[in-house]
Formats: sequence, structure tokens, C-alpha cells
Amino acid sequence: MSRSLVPGDVIGIVGGGQLGRMASICARRMGYRTIIYTEEAASPGPQWADQCVVGALDNTDLLTKFGRQVDVVTYETEHIPLASMHLLERLVPVYPSPHVLSITQHRQLEKDFLLQNGFPLPACATIRSYDHLVQEVSRLNRPCVLKTATGGYDGKGQWKVGLQDGDVAAAWKAANGRGTVLEEWVDLAFECSVIGARAVDGTMAFYGPLLNDHANHILDVSVCPIVESRMSDSLRAEAREIAAALCTKLDVVGLLCVEMFVTTSGKLLVNELAPRTHNSGHLTIEGHVTSQFEQIMRIVAGLPLGAVDQIRPAAMANLLGDLWSAGPPRWDRLLRHPAAKLHLYGKLDAKPGRKMGHVTATADTPEAAAETVQRARADLVGG
Ligand SMILES: Nc1ncnc2c1ncn2[C@@H]1O[C@H](COP(=O)(O)OP(=O)(O)O)[C@@H](O)[C@H]1O
Ligand SMILES: [Mg+2]
Repeated sequence: MSRSLVPGDVIGIVGGGQLGRMASICARRMGYRTIIYTEEAASPGPQWADQCVVGALDNTDLLTKFGRQVDVVTYETEHIPLASMHLLERLVPVYPSPHVLSITQHRQLEKDFLLQNGFPLPACATIRSYDHLVQEVSRLNRPCVLKTATGGYDGKGQWKVGLQDGDVAAAWKAANGRGTVLEEWVDLAFECSVIGARAVDGTMAFYGPLLNDHANHILDVSVCPIVESRMSDSLRAEAREIAAALCTKLDVVGLLCVEMFVTTSGKLLVNELAPRTHNSGHLTIEGHVTSQFEQIMRIVAGLPLGAVDQIRPAAMANLLGDLWSAGPPRWDRLLRHPAAKLHLYGKLDAKPGRKMGHVTATADTPEAAAETVQRARADLVGG
């Protein structure tokens, strides 16, 4: 990019979800206009964008129209046909580049890239047939997990291979041809993520590591910072070094979230990469000088990075559609916790497992912040 965007210029975001919504809020606060390209008009992003273009993610006519209306493009999901991003790249700068997307949207290519470049990752194999699966399961040992190469999220597209007779055949059947990546089941102490930010001029900054607790394979609670007794200074530094090396190696302009496993023997393994804002970074809105959402908008606008210093320990709990099962949640009860900050994404139907919003709190310690968000969330449905 030859110039920084100026207020009034237009940032295009592909994807209509909550990540684009929260980025659009920041862009508009900074004086930019936003256009969101989405498959569905009634999605969280368009409610906070200047305009939206509604079409399939492979509609070349609409993508061309969108590309001509914007000054730069970024995306909030990896589930976009690569050809569509190449089409847009011929019209405007796209950040992170389609090359980054080509690797991170494909679990097998991502693992090959990590392996070839010496990054630590769980033992894995590419599966070609049922017989090959049987052979690789005995090499990796059980339990292990079969995953789809593309399109998976929130644990969807994963089939665990347990210890029982018949589990291999059951996983293969359930995957129905989609399970092509087999991975050892890691003995986890906990999970963490580092969100790297890299500007057009190559300067970098990092959020985290953030501590991530999952429930049913979906992120449940994130906390930052991680206390020294849980993760040593040197391991935290190592996690940031891995993220820095990945941002540089992939030549990321934008954000790269690196999800990591910390094993019970204290080793870091890279789980997966996301070239975008990440659910674990939502607490940066209240916790950090510059949120991940403002940061991505600054980067795509060609501006310097904002400071990533943490203002106060912070925690975030996701609000899933399950909370609506006995009627509308009691928001008044959540907000009786004075430190609780409520974020709802404007989704109309609450389905189990669907991310409807989140609650963040800051406190004197990360433990106190984590306790507040969990209590506030529990009170939403408490008697
Ligand atoms: N090999 C594994 N060992 C242990 N836990 C795993 C493994 N793979 C996935 N998980 C659990 O499932 C969650 C989701 O898996 P992940 O591969 O990150 O897929 P996605 O986030 O795309 O659904 C992980 O964050 C982790 O909690
Ligand atoms: Mg994941």
C-alpha cells in the first residue's frame, strides 16, 4: 500500500459475523467507512457497517462490485474460497494476503507448513483410506482425533477415536470421507493463545499468551495474563517467540492468532492458526490499550500499531445460545456485577453452541476477573 487510509476511506470486511462487527465498530469510531460482504443480511456485522453486500462467497460479479467500492479488504473468517480472495487482490490490497489464508484455511497444509519450518506440533498423519487410518491409529496410539482439513470450527468436523473396539470404524463412518487429518490426543495441562499483530512495515506486537478454557471443544473462558505459577516467564516468552516467528515466516500483514497446547510435561505445541481476530482476544477491548479489533483496522489502514500494554488483568466468558433454553437470560442479574461488561452480537436465534455474545471483566488479579465473568454468566440463568 502506498498511502495510509484517511477518514472517509472504505474498509471492506469479508464475513458477516461478530468478529467483523466488532472490527467495524472500531473502524467507524476512527472515521473510516466499512462495507461488509456477507452471505446473510441478518448477521451481526451489517448492523454496525455503513453498507453491506449480500451474496455467496463465490459470486464473482458481486465480489467485483464490492472490491471496486472499497480501498482495502480484510476478512473475519477463513471459510472463504481462495479464488474469491485472489479476485479481490487484483482490485485492492488484501490483508493478510491470500497466501496466508491458503495455508491457514487448510488444516493439512497448515500442519505441513509447521512441520517443514520446525515448529512444534502434535504428532499427526494425512489419511488416505480406511486401511491407512487403522495403520496410523496404531502408530499414533489411542486416543486420537480425526479432523476435517477444511471448514471445521468450534470442534465441528472432529471425531475422537477412543479406546473401545469399533471406535476407529465409528470415527471413519461418522467422518464420511471428510476426516483426512489424524492427530494424537494431547495430554493437556491447559491451552493458550498468542495474537500477533504485524504492520505493513513489519513491526510486530503481541497479545498474551492468553489462557483458554474450552467446554465441549468450544472456547468457554479466556484470561490474561497467565499467572507465573501456571506458566513460567520463559514459557510465556517462548509462546510469543513462536508467534513472532510464524508472523514473520508467513509474512503476515494483519493479525495471526496462534492456538497452542501446553502439555502436562510443560511443552508448547502449536494447535492451529487463524489469520484474524480471535475469540480469545475479546478481552483486549477492556483489558488492553489497543483492542485486537482496533489493531486490525489500524494495520489494514496502513497506520502504526497501537500499544498492546495490558491495562488491568481481564477475563472473558462466552455466552452461548444454550443460555436461552429456559427463556431470555436475565441481563439485569448479569449487570448486577458492576465490573461485568456485556457484549451481544445481535443474533436473532439462540441455538445451542452458537456464540451469542460474551461478558468481560477487569479486576486486580486474573483470578478475580475470571471469577466475576463466571459468576455473572451463572447468574443469567440462576433461580
Ligand atoms: N489433539 C488434541 N488433543 C487434545 N485436545 C484437542 C485436540 N484437538 C482438539 N482438541 C480440543 O478441541 C478444541 C478444538 O479443536 P481445534 O483443533 O482447535 O479445532 P477448531 O477450533 O477449529 O474447532 C481444542 O481447542 C482442544 O480443546
Ligand atoms: Mg481451535
